Amino acid sequence: MCSRSFLLCVLGIIAVVNGKPMLSLSLITLRKVDSLIEISGHLHNTGQFLVFRADREAKIRVNITGGPLAYHYQFEEIYIHYGMDDGHGSEHRINNYAFPAEIQVYGFNAELYHNMSEAQHKSQGLVAISLMVQLGETLNPELQIITSVFNKVIYRGDTAPVRYLSLKSLLPDTTGYMTYEGSTTHPGCWETAVWLILNKPIYITARELYALRKLMQGPSTTPKAPLGNNSRPLQGLHYRTVRTNIDFAKRGNAKCPSMAQDMHYRDDFFLPANTWRDDGSLSHNVV
Ligand SMILES: *[C@@H]1O[C@H](CO)[C@@H](O)[C@H](O)[C@H]1NC(C)=O
Ligand SMILES: *[C@@H]1O[C@H](CO)[C@@H](O)[C@H](O)[C@H]1NC(C)=O
Ligand SMILES: *[C@@H]1O[C@H](CO)[C@@H](O)[C@H](O)[C@H]1NC(C)=O
Repeated sequence: MCSRSFLLCVLGIIAVVNGKPMLSLSLITLRKVDSLIEISGHLHNTGQFLVFRADREAKIRVNITGGPLAYHYQFEEIYIHYGMDDGHGSEHRINNYAFPAEIQVYGFNAELYHNMSEAQHKSQGLVAISLMVQLGETLNPELQIITSVFNKVIYRGDTAPVRYLSLKSLLPDTTGYMTYEGSTTHPGCWETAVWLILNKPIYITARELYALRKLMQGPSTTPKAPLGNNSRPLQGLHYRTVRTNIDFAKRGNAKCPSMAQDMHYRDDFFLPANTWRDDGSLSHNVV
């Protein structure tokens, strides 16, 4: 991907005047999900991916609105992509840095379509919110609800109930994101998703990553290869517009030390998984 010039393209898109962006996208808000709203569903090992799906009969709908979204979307599923080592795993890269895992929260356009299967191949059909997952010492408590059943979905076809997951609590504490229109990274690869890449990671521990890497592609009789390393290869930007509400012009404090928990992607920090340096560029997995 292009390096420093990419930062300039981003700034060009949000029309920076005198160091201030003229067009600033408002933060994404999950309006229906005040921390009290919890969803239940199942975690599935499909043999290709690890997917959480909300129970269809559930009465509670999680509404995803705001930010760059022109419609309201209904939460449907979460994909977990991860690497077999800490240096690989995420499908998006930040400054060419791959995180050990990436969690993708998908919703479908509930204003125009009836359900995910109808929406996924239709215009403006999907929203995909990407959470980069970093190796840390304290696990995100909401993520723990999912990681606690990893040992029940070791083989293809295994499924395990997951209860009382708060989507809002799973999201990192940031209002910053990058957004572009792209495709799903699982088959069909439909060009129908509005992507939002949040500007802070969430954390997973080495212990949970270890459990994740035990999952297999096959059934218990023929487990085949591990399920990990299931990220789609990095794709070119193909002249897509990537927009952001991150103020890249405000780089004054980029050199200040900070707590790892307070990390933003644009800053320079020591990271445990591998070395990640901000050279002012961003790479994206865009189809
Ligand atoms: C989702 O949010 C939009 C915008 O606030 C609202 O108009 C719509 O009724 C909500 N849908 C549900 C199912 O809550
Ligand atoms: C999705 O909605 C379409 C259109 O209403 C319908 O034909 C289809 O059966 C629905 N699929 C599922 C899985 O509910
Ligand atoms: C996972 O992918 C990485 C990067 O392509 C590669 O170096 C590594 O050997 C792979 N590991 C396994 C177990 O396939």
